[in-house]
This record gives sequence, C-alpha cells and structure tokens, in this order.
Amino acid sequence: MAQNWTPGSWRQKPIQQVPEYPDATALAATEATLATYPPLVFAGEARRLKKQLANVAEGNAFLLQGGDCAESFLEHGADNIRDFFRAFLQMAVVLTYGAQLPVVKVGRIAGQFAKPRSSNVEVLDGVTLPSYRGDIINGIEFNEASRIPNPERQLDAYRQSAATLNLLRAFAMGGYANLENVHQWMLGFIKDSPQADRYRKLADRISETMNFMQAIGISAENNPSLRETDFFTSHEALLLGYEEALTRVDSTSGDWYATSGHMIWIGDRTRQLDHAHVEYFRGIKNPIGLKCGPSLTPDNLIELIDALNPANEAGRLTLICRFGHDKVADSLPKLIRAVEKEGRKVVWSCDPMHGNTITLNHYKTRPFERILSEVESFFQIHRAEGTHPGGIHIEMTGKDVTECTGGARAVTADSLSDRYHTHCDPRLNADQALELAFLLSERMKSGRDEKRLAIATA
Ligand code: TRP
Ligand code: MN
Repeated sequence: MAQNWTPGSWRQKPIQQVPEYPDATALAATEATLATYPPLVFAGEARRLKKQLANVAEGNAFLLQGGDCAESFLEHGADNIRDFFRAFLQMAVVLTYGAQLPVVKVGRIAGQFAKPRSSNVEVLDGVTLPSYRGDIINGIEFNEASRIPNPERQLDAYRQSAATLNLLRAFAMGGYANLENVHQWMLGFIKDSPQADRYRKLADRISETMNFMQAIGISAENNPSLRETDFFTSHEALLLGYEEALTRVDSTSGDWYATSGHMIWIGDRTRQLDHAHVEYFRGIKNPIGLKCGPSLTPDNLIELIDALNPANEAGRLTLICRFGHDKVADSLPKLIRAVEKEGRKVVWSCDPMHGNTITLNHYKTRPFERILSEVESFFQIHRAEGTHPGGIHIEMTGKDVTECTGGARAVTADSLSDRYHTHCDPRLNADQALELAFLLSERMKSGRDEKRLAIATA
C-alpha cells in the first residue's frame, strides 16, 4: 500500500458505491465550498472519544451506538431529535445501571445521510430509475428529477448536521441530560408502554440514590458528571468527496482528522483492502468502525487491521459485527480467535440489525426476536472466548414507529403499515429499544455476578 497519504489519495483507487453526478464541475465547486466551511467537530473531541473507546477495548466500559438508518431532510425537527435523545439516554441509564460500567454514547446522527445500495437501479411498475442513495445524494421520490444526484444536497446535509449537533450539545451539556431528570424523561414516553413500569422502577431507584448522595453533599449542582454527559456523533463515511472537504489538520498535533463527525465507519460493501474507502480511513486519526459481515475471513480481517490500525492503538478500531442471528455462531468465533492470536486491540460491537432483515407484506422488516437472539449469541460467544462483548450498534428512533415486528407490545406483519416511516432500513421504536436495553442490562448483571462469584471462590 502506498505510504504517501493525502485527504484526496483515495481518488487514485478503485471505488464502490459511488454516485454518478451528471455535472462534474458543479460537484467540484460544491466540494470547494464545503472545504471553506468550519469543521463540525473538533479533533480534541475525537481524541476524547478514542480514549473512552480504549476503555471499552480493555473491558472497562460499554459502547452504545445508535440512531437512524438514514437521516432525512424531511424529518429534521427538534421533536425528532429530542425524542431520539431521550430514548437513547434512557437506554444508556439502564445499561449503566445494569453493567455498572460507564457507557460510551455515540449517535448515528448529525451526518448519517449516505446509503450504500445493493442495486444501482430501482424498478417500479416497469419504470427504471437510479436507486435512492440517501438525502445527501438524491431524493427518495420516485421520479427522474429527484433521483439525479445533486451536489447542492451536500451543503444541506452539512447545515442539517450542524444544526442537529448544536441541539445535541445543548441537551448533553445544558441540563436536559441531568440524572435528576430521569423521571422527567418518562413524560411523553408512551404511557401504556410495557416498558413504562419497568423503567419507572429503575428511575425510582436512581432517584433514591441521588437523594442519598444529595444528603451527603453530592449534587448535580456541585457535580457536573451528574448533570452532563459526553455524547458523540458518527456515520458511515461513504461519500468520500464530502469527507475529504471536511478533512482538516489539527493544529495541536499536526494530524489529519475527519471533522464531519467524531467517529466514522466503513461499510461491509466498501471494505476492500486496496480500494478507496480503506485508503481514506487509514490517514485520519479519528476513532473508526469497520462493519464485519459473513463474507469477511479471519485473514482479511487481520490485513484490514494492519492497514487501519498499524500501531495497535486501543480505541482506534471498533469491529461492528453484523452477521445475522443464524450466522453469528459460525462467523464470530473464528474472527475473535484470529484477533486474540495476533494480539490486536479492538472494540467488539454487535450490530443485530443488518443481518436480520426480511420482507413481509412488501415491507422490509426485522423480527425483534432475531435481533435479541443475535445479541444473546454475541454475548455468549464472547463469554466462551474470554473476550469483552464491548457494545451494540442499533438502528432506532424515539418515535412509536411500526417498522420491526415483535417486542412486548407486538408489532405484527399486518400493523407494519400503520407507522412505517423509515427512509431506508426498519428501526427499533422507543419501546423496543428500551426493552433491548433492559434485557442486555440483565445479561451484563448476571455476567458481573458470575465474575464476582468466581473471584470470591478462587
Ligand atoms: N456523566 C455520566 C455519564 O455520562 C452520568 C450521566 C449523566 C448519565 N447524565 C446521564 C448517564 C444520562 C446516562 C444518561 O455516564
Ligand atoms: Mn441500515
């Protein structure tokens, strides 16, 4: 692999999943404009996230990563962002309590706009048009004008990311995330939710703990860690022209950083060793993710780790495993063994969404029990291998959508049409996301008790 890297050296490599812009001059002009815009995130923040992920790699923290499959221009409202953030924080609090470990919080948000597609075209009623590739590239409406890639959309995506990030920072640091508010997060959370009762009980215990701490002089007022939280952003860095324009030198270290988000990942379809995406990623210093699907061999994986994390820096690389509930037992152990044998430091994260997509009544959906089953297997396998099941990566929303079937208040095949809003893949609704967090927290709690017992009887 060539050693001299620049933010644009990926342009010399073969590339997958690249949109065909009809007007190359307009595209170049947009990229030049973007290159003059301020960075969305600051390198110091990316380093902070990397440190927290190093903690996960070492088994001392848990990663929660989640959000929309694809953000859309249409759904860009304060309510959506707040509802997502509330559901996400509820999950985080449940997991922190269950694991008794810090939870590293990373949203699939403020930049998650570009989608890889399995086909370049979509056919509907005999009409063939280019596939929808995410709002940063073209429109979802099925007509020729909307499906033509339009560079102007990159500027809109940048502005939406900036506005979203601004609100998230305000929520995370301005009081909304205060642990004294856990009861308030209930408000607006669907009253008849099967999770409501469970959540209320946990919230009561946390409130009691907070009251006890207040009594001994520790309060949110004098203790920022009770009222603030670190929240980071992430997305699949698929559209490399956009990423290149936002790649900047950090003046304190002299290193290059992607400033479109704190963490970015490489998709399962674009992780070819000698191709453009791996080339781009190897030169930036952010924490990065690599999606690992069933076609990834242990040798492939080690080569990719060599290219992406040659210094074996903990926290740099998160392996986001998306095998499918029926394939995880076959695919995961051999990857874990290869990584352990080579002594590579990685975060193991489970994406139980992308390997479990089926079609029901013409809707793309995911059965909740298969999602749970993949997560359960992921935990069991790590326990058997003696490695740390470091985190989960999910597609979720704070809204009460009907996109994935199942869950305690079962969404059925027939109810999918009620509130099926996603622009791409089916997401867990707030209820299902919280239910997953409760189940995980029970797993982690029993894992912890087992470990204590082992230490006590050793
Ligand atoms: N600062 C701690 C953390 O981020 C505790 C905390 C504050 C928290 N607000 C939170 C945890 C909201 C989960 C959710 O972990
Ligand atoms: Mn998806």
